Amino acid sequence: MEPNEDEIIRKIEEDRPKIPAGLLTREEKDRLIERGMLGLYRWYVARSQEHRNWNPDKDFDWKSFRKDHSPEMIQILKGFFAVEQYVPDYVTSLLHVIRTSHGRSHFHIRWGSEEERHADLWYNATLFSGQVKPNDLKDYMGALRQDQWTLPWQDPMYMIFYTVFQERATQVNYLNTALIAKGLSNKPQFANDTDPVLAKAAQVIAVDEAAHYNFFLEGARLYLYYYPAQAIEAMVDVLQNFAMPGARVHIPDYPKFEETVYKAAIYGPREHARDVVQHALDNLGFANRKAIENGIKRIRQVPDENGNFVDSQIFEGIDYPSIEQKVRQLFGRIKRHEDEVGFTQVDPTEFVPNYPER
Ligand SMILES: [Fe+2]
Ligand SMILES: [Fe+2]
Repeated sequence: MEPNEDEIIRKIEEDRPKIPAGLLTREEKDRLIERGMLGLYRWYVARSQEHRNWNPDKDFDWKSFRKDHSPEMIQILKGFFAVEQYVPDYVTSLLHVIRTSHGRSHFHIRWGSEEERHADLWYNATLFSGQVKPNDLKDYMGALRQDQWTLPWQDPMYMIFYTVFQERATQVNYLNTALIAKGLSNKPQFANDTDPVLAKAAQVIAVDEAAHYNFFLEGARLYLYYYPAQAIEAMVDVLQNFAMPGARVHIPDYPKFEETVYKAAIYGPREHARDVVQHALDNLGFANRKAIENGIKRIRQVPDENGNFVDSQIFEGIDYPSIEQKVRQLFGRIKRHEDEVGFTQVDPTEFVPNYPER
């Protein structure tokens, strides 16, 4: 039986690209991503120095830190310390694969300096808890450093998505710990863990993690805007194979730590799905994880006249106009920073759309 006219029109409509093919060459897209990263990094550093210039020794009243925290809280402090103290590996491993990018490599060194103070902050908290002897803490650190953290993905684009979810998960861990330290947990094991010094520590560090999360979100959007098919594929792979950094190194009491944060409602599968994955997807313009996984099957790439592969179709479930709008806003933020400094007169960072106006 011949398909009727409505059927044919419906099929044509279905196959019509939702987003027109990208306008730009690969070189131009790479240039724009690099300019975006560099501008964002410059903006970030200025802001970080102005608003988050804290010191892990001098900005906390360690002498007043409680000496009678619950064994569960001590387990959590040690676990946070363990994960953060792999910072030399976090910095060197990724630095090798992004070293040619001015924006990303310089940002990464700055990011590392902020992560380094997190390691020292949790070191102090564990030490001042009075429940881990100084020599035992040093031995613990030595044992941890016998192992080395390695990259879960070697590709810079994949690592942007990994860091989006990892930074948000870390922020959620610290925010929920701050709630316990403020006496807001209803879990009986934490009934005696109220501690303003710990509350401040967890809060301050969570603000850093939020700043990291935001940086990587902006970076991820640049890839999603200029390389949607590849970026979505990377994101799906990262989501499917995601594990927190601590799970990739040998931390002797890590299973115990995971169980403790799970029972504390600090971080577990529920928090990961709701407060990490869905939060990040909302921010990146996706409906939900399932929509992405279904939609990825429908992405097609076709070669243009220069042999570059371009995306011919983007599935439903992604709010593409919102990504473009956010990328434009990012370039706007960079422009304000560059106006202030004077870069605008000599070498401005300018947004170039990858798609014709609709
Ligand atoms: Fe951190
Ligand atoms: Fe971080």
